[in-house]
Amino acid sequence: MRNPLIVANWKMNGSLEAIDQWVKEFTTFNPLLTEMVVCPPFVYLNDFRTRLLTNALDISVGAQNCSTEEMGAFTGEVSAGMLSDTGCQWVILGHSERRMLYGETNEIVARKAVQAVNAGLKPIVCVGETLEQREAGKTTEVVLSQLNSILDAIGAQELSKGALAYEPVWAIGTGKTATPDQAQAVHEALRVGVESRDSLAASALRILYGGSVKPSNAAKLFACADIDGGLIGGASLKASDFYAIAQASVVPDVIS
Ligand code: 13P
Repeated sequence: MRNPLIVANWKMNGSLEAIDQWVKEFTTFNPLLTEMVVCPPFVYLNDFRTRLLTNALDISVGAQNCSTEEMGAFTGEVSAGMLSDTGCQWVILGHSERRMLYGETNEIVARKAVQAVNAGLKPIVCVGETLEQREAGKTTEVVLSQLNSILDAIGAQELSKGALAYEPVWAIGTGKTATPDQAQAVHEALRVGVESRDSLAASALRILYGGSVKPSNAAKLFACADIDGGLIGGASLKASDFYAIAQASVVPDVIS
């Protein structure tokens, strides 16, 4: 049984004031067993983490990206080692916005994954198809090629210490969610892809769904056999929505 994982990707949103408000609101909620990670912009990682510690909130901190390089003359870049140094434990890699807007190829994402693993960070690797690719019947081919390049670089075991996130590009920020059946079919194909390398790692790996997850649609997605949590964009900026989504991942005890 995999413990659910709910990750907030704040993208380029937030401010010190918004962070204060978010944390203040979150302290009013009851603790959950679900593992939670919040990924604010680089500059707020430390501020956010300090506030979590001060308020004894059981949430880990992640970054949204890291460099392909370890150190040196790479102006504006942030290395995986630096992230680890500031108390960051996770890093999102290969988000479709980075693939599409910043030209990140499978090879670049794989190099970042190697840096992340070397620095002791847990990678959250994003894969997903565009609407055009889906309509051309290429979804499985696209996500498996994105997955395989990561598996070639860091192996199934290292990936399973982090997470894989299926984010159909057409569902991100559009309000259009993949149906639970559509998402489950891709998650299953991804798990089979990992299984072909390492079956233990495949059964331990948490595969998250991302793309317009909201409190109203989360429970049905999380009820699918191969959906082990979510990568939440817009809805994660509101503490109460992020909490409600995390709550939806809690599997109720079966009373016999
Ligand atoms: P939305 O939840 O805003 O659709 O964003 C999803 C996403 O890109 C998370 O990484």
